[in-house]
Amino acid sequence: MCGIVGYIGEQQVPELLLRGLEKLEYRGYDSAGIAVVGETEAELFKEKGRIATLRKSINGKAEGTAGIGHTRWATHGPPSKENAHPHQSTSGRLTLVHNGVIENFEQLKEEYLGEVELASDTDTEVIVQLVEVFMNQGDSVKKAFRKTLRLLKGSFAIALIDNEDKDTIYVAKNKSPLLAGYGEDGNVVASDSMAMLHVTKEFVELMDGEVVTVTRDNIEITTLDGEEVTRDSFTAELDESDTEKGTYAHYMLKEIDEQPFVIRNIIQKYQDENHDIKLDPEVREALNEADRLYIIAAGTSYHAGLVGKEVMEKVAGKPVEVHIASEFLYNAPIVSENPLFIFISQSGETADSRGVLVNVKEQCHKALTITNVPGSTLSREADFTLHTYAGPEIAVASTKAYTAQMAVLSILAMDAARSQGYEDSFNAIQELSIVATAMETLCDQKDEMEMIARDYLTDVRNCFFIGRALDYHVVLEGALKLKEISYIQAEGFAGGELKHGTIALIEDKTPVIAVTTQEHVNLNIRGNVQEVDARGANSCIISMENTAKNGDQIVLPKVHDYLTPLASVIPLQLISYFAALHRGCDVDKPRNLAKSVTVE
Ligand code: M6R
Repeated sequence: MCGIVGYIGEQQVPELLLRGLEKLEYRGYDSAGIAVVGETEAELFKEKGRIATLRKSINGKAEGTAGIGHTRWATHGPPSKENAHPHQSTSGRLTLVHNGVIENFEQLKEEYLGEVELASDTDTEVIVQLVEVFMNQGDSVKKAFRKTLRLLKGSFAIALIDNEDKDTIYVAKNKSPLLAGYGEDGNVVASDSMAMLHVTKEFVELMDGEVVTVTRDNIEITTLDGEEVTRDSFTAELDESDTEKGTYAHYMLKEIDEQPFVIRNIIQKYQDENHDIKLDPEVREALNEADRLYIIAAGTSYHAGLVGKEVMEKVAGKPVEVHIASEFLYNAPIVSENPLFIFISQSGETADSRGVLVNVKEQCHKALTITNVPGSTLSREADFTLHTYAGPEIAVASTKAYTAQMAVLSILAMDAARSQGYEDSFNAIQELSIVATAMETLCDQKDEMEMIARDYLTDVRNCFFIGRALDYHVVLEGALKLKEISYIQAEGFAGGELKHGTIALIEDKTPVIAVTTQEHVNLNIRGNVQEVDARGANSCIISMENTAKNGDQIVLPKVHDYLTPLASVIPLQLISYFAALHRGCDVDKPRNLAKSVTVE
């Protein structure tokens, strides 16, 4: 959601910023803009819609070696050129980009900006106007910036430039991610290291409550009170090529195909030379000491958590609750005496989950984050982190992160079981390697999956997914995948619940996709399929070698009962992909969605 880039140095900045914004496209946005510091003033270029439109409108017209850029995902005011960032102060001297939400912007407007005519509907403009108001009262930019920061309530990452000091980008953050980076011929600011890999791989994390000045040859970090802060930089373990789609038409398809590799990578990272599980002893201790685990997550990560709960409870006998982060935040249940909170998040930036983490830490509970981005906010703020090693996931629809999360959770379950002396229990490492091979087989069946998407999902308004036991959790994910990228209304149900309401929606040719990999409920779900067929549904059955029957549309290679979602989700991902493609949807950047949901 929203993205910031900035550069100050020797190179021409417009192209650097545009490339950076293109790298941030995956986060989701609906307008974009850049400000380039010219001879006398900062020149603004903004457009509603895609970066390609912005690029076209700039068309080589901008020149300068310092500037800031932004992709906006509308919160206050609709997507429009006026509301797109950067925003300028009334005099035009100050220019600013912002990620996040200023919760008290109305109040600030009333209290300080009575005389100021605002040019946009955004909360952001209030920030830049406030800085100017304080400067008009005699403060330097730096002092006015600090004063403003003290007044802001909410989440923000901000970059500010001043026409009269072309050598500095002023930066600050609260709850929203922001990095500064050291380049050879200039320094950068970015929401995500991926955005500026074409300039540098050396970054420094910025913390809440800091004020940072980025100049051509220095990055100065201070506290809000002006005390100097020193912090080591880190090298981003990414190459620009990791973030490119290569020969693939879409990131989503590339990421689906990467899943066998990701699973093998996880096996390697979580195994020592004796083939035992390699886990931070502190994580092991926290897991063993906990009387109950609380998994907190959103969207696809929540679905991975549902599977994780089943595996943990079956393998290690440890009670687990799984909660939607935004629900837990305002409606928390009674928590056990010695809980361990496990946050699952691909991005590590989801605001709903972060809200829960803040509360959990206030109550002095232990927290573990399972994430694909180890330096992320959820990772930094939790006591421990487990990395999912899936590599950058760019498509908004999460695929490889989901299977990676379930793989890590299954390893955690195995470790918890071993710690309790269940030596011969489920061997996640061995079973995951069987899963990786099964995934490969399924990824090679794209033509079949495309055919199913054509046969079942052309010109339909809705689609139902049903499953029982572990398959119920994976159908929730299948439905989410289909709806978010193809805009077909898709819902996942527990097979047994159909007759308690949902079956009323079945009409002639309504597609119903049933997943059946669990022997003990195979007959039951097949019974449910007969019920919908009798009412005219167009049913498609995805079974596994041990549950298959003649006529099933897809038969998955056999994997361990506890890990079936890692295999059965592949056809669901591919069918969604092809359905969206056939409908002409923007597969990687579905409407209204953002990759990293940094607002509540
Ligand atoms: O980064 P996170 O895993 O915390 O994100 C949570 C959800 O926003 C995310 O899984 C979302 O549901 C995906 N777009 C689904 O494909």
